[in-house]
Amino acid sequence: MKENFDVKLVENAKYYTPDAEYKRSSWIGDYQEAYRRFLADPDAFWETIARELEWIRPWDRVCEWTYPYARWFVNAQLNITANCLDRHVAGDRRNKVALIWRGEDGKERVYSYQRLLGEVSRFANGLKKLGVKKGDRVCIYMPMVPEQLIAMLACARIGAVHSVVFAGFGTSALNLRINDAEAKVVITADISIRRGKAIPLITIVQEAIVHAPSVEHVVIYRRRKEPPVELHPGREHDFYGIMEDVPAECPCETMDAEDPLFVLYTSGSTGTPKGVVHTCGGYMVGAYYSTKTVFDLKERDIYWCTADPGWITGHTYIVYGPLAVGATVFITEITPDYPDPGSWWKLIQEQQISVFYTAPTAIRTFMKVGEDWPNRYNLSSLRIIGSVGEPLNPEAFEWYYRVIGKSRCPIVDTWWQTETGMQMITTMVGEPMRPGFVGKPIPGVEVDVTDKNGNPVPPGTGGFLVIKRPWPSMLRTVYKNDARYRQYWETISGVYAAGDLAVKGSDGYIMVIGRADDIIIVSGHNIGTAEVESALVSHHAVAEAAVIGKPDAIKGNAIKAFVILRVGNTPSEKLTQDLIYHVRMTLGPVAVPHEIEFVDKLPKTRSGKIMRRVLKAKELGMDPGDISTLEE
Ligand code: WTA
Repeated sequence: MKENFDVKLVENAKYYTPDAEYKRSSWIGDYQEAYRRFLADPDAFWETIARELEWIRPWDRVCEWTYPYARWFVNAQLNITANCLDRHVAGDRRNKVALIWRGEDGKERVYSYQRLLGEVSRFANGLKKLGVKKGDRVCIYMPMVPEQLIAMLACARIGAVHSVVFAGFGTSALNLRINDAEAKVVITADISIRRGKAIPLITIVQEAIVHAPSVEHVVIYRRRKEPPVELHPGREHDFYGIMEDVPAECPCETMDAEDPLFVLYTSGSTGTPKGVVHTCGGYMVGAYYSTKTVFDLKERDIYWCTADPGWITGHTYIVYGPLAVGATVFITEITPDYPDPGSWWKLIQEQQISVFYTAPTAIRTFMKVGEDWPNRYNLSSLRIIGSVGEPLNPEAFEWYYRVIGKSRCPIVDTWWQTETGMQMITTMVGEPMRPGFVGKPIPGVEVDVTDKNGNPVPPGTGGFLVIKRPWPSMLRTVYKNDARYRQYWETISGVYAAGDLAVKGSDGYIMVIGRADDIIIVSGHNIGTAEVESALVSHHAVAEAAVIGKPDAIKGNAIKAFVILRVGNTPSEKLTQDLIYHVRMTLGPVAVPHEIEFVDKLPKTRSGKIMRRVLKAKELGMDPGDISTLEE
């Protein structure tokens, strides 16, 4: 087990305790007490939460666990949008603001719960008109605009399974995801706007579906008015066009608790991304419960999660969780550096954001530009601030706590994954926070740090982060690859292996060190080394490639590629740029290597596997460890 964690940090316990009022007024109440209640009767614990929501038919049993398969809320029926929309419209939140969107040009769009329900219903009816039925897969490839959320909710309303692909992915990454899901419809926009520039999304879609036989229709949200993009009749449809001449109401499709709600692709250790499948009932309960208790959302909060709905963080903590709770959600396509590094703080002041959720990579970027920027704005509306996506290092914690939270707001650093569907480890609001550590499992979740045989390791020793019992919002399978699903539970027998390395302090607080596999987390985005390698090898000049993650002060990790050229090609700056461009066009800007080194040879095992560990050790001037399997 590599021990590249800060031993001093594990030994020296330093805590920050928020004002007692936080705990007194929190939904969770006393953490220890809530945790004990869960352990005493896990089914009863989850059942109490599920009862806060609306079901068409109640469950016969809370959980049925046949290792490694779980069914939650067995035989219950529901529709998640009835809980995210209709429930509030029928109750006291009809006129409450559900969604505020801010464009780069300063344009603002505001949706009440009533209006959002209307838009979702009409778009759902439009999809039905195109022949979309329960169980059909729909790919959503859109910028951060309200239409993205409307499209997701409309699919959920009619029982279509959405597969949202982040708009930062390129043609081949999109093609792979459309084909794997066999999507019948792709919903997109003509352009995405970033830092004053229009990025054409529609052309990426048009290229991506050339070899995607399942696609029958493309729905386009046309933002550019002069001239609007032309539509190919019969195949391409206008987003608002399909909402014309349809009934204003769309009854919810009755879904079984275990029917799939969505597929979301995440990088794997192989070249093919995994289609993580989440289901309607358990996911809804997990999203609702964690949003309500971890962010301790109250009726008056204005909540901003800076993620894109194209990632799991956006699915659970922009769309389904906050809307199920009945919160007011703010979203924007404004980047943190445009027009200047004060843009987000200005938005917090203007919108009076009270709960803010972002990523360590953003926090570290803000640290670099200095505290003058946030100090220009009044951030006193903030009540709770959160972090997700990668380890929040102690320096970033301290800065976030002091400069943004004014040494007053609790920080909820939340560990979880696409696969877990909801937050699993954090420091619940009101509990003492420990910089460098995410915290403890939330009530409802049991975790540990073990060796590769599943034996708990002593405090202060590195090990694998595992989850010890099923939870409602766990993934149910990997789309069309159930063997890959079983691996999660079979790698370390009897428990769910998260694939992360971690250390537990003697106080039970958990520090997450990083991935144990070939996934590199760059600015909080999971990138598979194999995906980048195969993109490189698809370039005509490349014979072989190996990719590693190198620690980066801002991004967490940077991608470094080692490339062997085909005979007849010579290294040059131009070729480096060509390769970067090639990866950008195929995989997308998120996966572009930051550094390329041309080499003649790569370290391999005798069986021919590239030993990335050796490359990485050499790059960082570290001991490569056991190299007995190295070729020579
Ligand atoms: C990492 C994002 C440390 C971890 C919700 C995990 C974190 C992977 C944290 C999942 C955190 C996420 N501290 N590491 N608070 N949150 N990670 O699927 O390695 O995009 O396995 O889900 O991100 O990334 P994913």
